[in-house]
Amino acid sequence: MSINQHIKPVTTEERENLTIGGCDLTELAKRYGTPLYVIDEATLRGICKEYRQAFKEYKNIKMMYACKALCTSAVIKILDEEGFGFDTVSAGEIYTVFKSGVDMSKVLFNGSNKSAREIELALEYKVGRFSVDNFYEAEMLHRLAGEKGITADILLRITPGIECHTHDYIQTGQTDSKFGFDLSQLDEIISLIRSKYKNLNLKGLHAHIGSQIFEQKSYYDEVGILACQIESIRKKYGIQLEEMNIGGGLGVKYTESDTPPSVEELAKAVTEAMHKYAIEIPTIYLEPGRSIISPAGVTLYTAGSSKRVPNGRKYVALDGGMADNPRPSMYQAQYTAQVVNRLKSKDFETVTLAGRYCESGDILINDINLPKIEAGDIICIYNTGAYNYSMASNYNRVEKPAMVLVNNSQSDIIVYRETLDNLIMYDVIPDRLKK
Ligand code: LLP
Repeated sequence: MSINQHIKPVTTEERENLTIGGCDLTELAKRYGTPLYVIDEATLRGICKEYRQAFKEYKNIKMMYACKALCTSAVIKILDEEGFGFDTVSAGEIYTVFKSGVDMSKVLFNGSNKSAREIELALEYKVGRFSVDNFYEAEMLHRLAGEKGITADILLRITPGIECHTHDYIQTGQTDSKFGFDLSQLDEIISLIRSKYKNLNLKGLHAHIGSQIFEQKSYYDEVGILACQIESIRKKYGIQLEEMNIGGGLGVKYTESDTPPSVEELAKAVTEAMHKYAIEIPTIYLEPGRSIISPAGVTLYTAGSSKRVPNGRKYVALDGGMADNPRPSMYQAQYTAQVVNRLKSKDFETVTLAGRYCESGDILINDINLPKIEAGDIICIYNTGAYNYSMASNYNRVEKPAMVLVNNSQSDIIVYRETLDNLIMYDVIPDRLKK
């Protein structure tokens, strides 16, 4: 089984207590407080290895971790050690990667509305590739690269026209999408690059068909479309593109009913399509985010108040919620949980785990069967490594949680918990109000 097919980190053990990376979760909660993001290093490194092995037949495969899933310096450092490059979408992500000591030629700058400031920063830091999303950006990148007297190596982001069966908001490859060039616009942009945009060096094509994908076939189709486009560009313009970026998207198992394909099955779909279309692509890029970091992460919460609606549900309120994990309220995402300190309990009931934020929609898990929870119990929600911290907010003026890395019974803080002073540090009271 691939790591993305596990709900829990691979080092999770249920003995007297629940442990991850050899660390007792109640101890972690006590020591660092809750809510607490916990990242298991062995799970993270394990999936990196799976990706490397699954694609080993490709001499030049470039694994680019999609930083948007979780971008903190320690995580970047580990992925750098594991041989990954980085898919970035903002000055903030580029800066984090740069400050983590990464060779910037391994970085790709992606995004549908890059600003001039961000492009300048990316050029200054010498990122390896730009994925050009639209006409406006192509012109701007050409101009800004020219001002610096350099040529930017680019991929063209295309919309391949594949619909994946995933949530509407996280689907990107369908024809009516805000991302990338429509296939009908490819001739125009390629002509512009050849005739006018001399500071752009076209290396290949890029697509991303969506996220939390469960069907290998989608990748097979995507590679087919990219291959056909590359072949047609060769025939029409005599340009042999060397690079194909197939994006990210491999799903993970949040609950028992989720059935994502393994990394090996993903590799098989890509390989079969490459053989079928028989084109020579020296370099293939992958941009996995969720499947790399999600299974490695869990969030610990402390239970507080509870309420039984007469003849209805029982709500148990946790000390976090939609500000540290907006996915349930945004996408109706589902999760699996366990009561850390009641492994031996035989007394179960069905409860709804509610968040602490002032919004009725702030529910983390609806109707889950768990050991009877009392105030002070520690709840572990699994598979929260991706798109939790990275989409966290300070709603209700609550401090963002800390994050710890666990490995071999050791825990290290990798993101400090915000303080009340952090919350007001950017506030300014104009002098005229200070009377
Ligand atoms: N490459 C591109 C161009 C992308 O847009 C994305 C994700 C990825 C790679 C990484 O995809 P992954 O392997 O993580 O599926 N906030 C949503 C997910 C949004 C994904 C956006 N693009 C969620 O929480 O489900």
